[in-house]
Amino acid sequence: MSTMDITVTVNGEQRQASVEPRMLLVHFLRDELELTGTHVGCDTSQCGACTVHLDGHAVKSCTLFAVQADGREVLTIEGIGAVGELHPLQTGFWEEHGLQCGFCTPGMIMSSAELLRTNPNPSEDQIRHALEGNFCRCTGYHNIVRAVQHAAGAMAAGAQPQSSAADD
Ligand code: FES
Ligand code: FES
Repeated sequence: MSTMDITVTVNGEQRQASVEPRMLLVHFLRDELELTGTHVGCDTSQCGACTVHLDGHAVKSCTLFAVQADGREVLTIEGIGAVGELHPLQTGFWEEHGLQCGFCTPGMIMSSAELLRTNPNPSEDQIRHALEGNFCRCTGYHNIVRAVQHAAGAMAAGAQPQSSAADD
């Protein structure tokens, strides 16, 4: 199988690789770059566990080939905040018990970050609508909604997101 050379800026760092044209972006992130915070829950574009930002917009990374990210910017859960410097959404999920096993959480946070970038003060209905493409199979959605509301309140009060997506 022939390969293609790609250069992708991932979490602010330029990464180069030679990949098969059929490799999905999620497998590139997990298997080539060892950024395993982006999860694969279904591989059929339903669960949202694989959500990352591509050029500042939330996308399901199992729906794209890695070669489609060539020359573009990807932000993953590893790049949105850090231990000791959590993104307000990460703090929100912590404070409101918005996770149990945590499998869905990276995707929930990346989708929520896109929501808060475009709508800093969403209603409960708008949060639920924005997260329709993200499945949670163990916590339930009430605390997840509260986590997003917590983050929106914190950001309105001046907490800064670390996401580059918030800059565009
Ligand atoms: S793994 Fe991509 S949507 Fe489920
Ligand atoms: S916290 Fe377990 S799937 Fe959502």
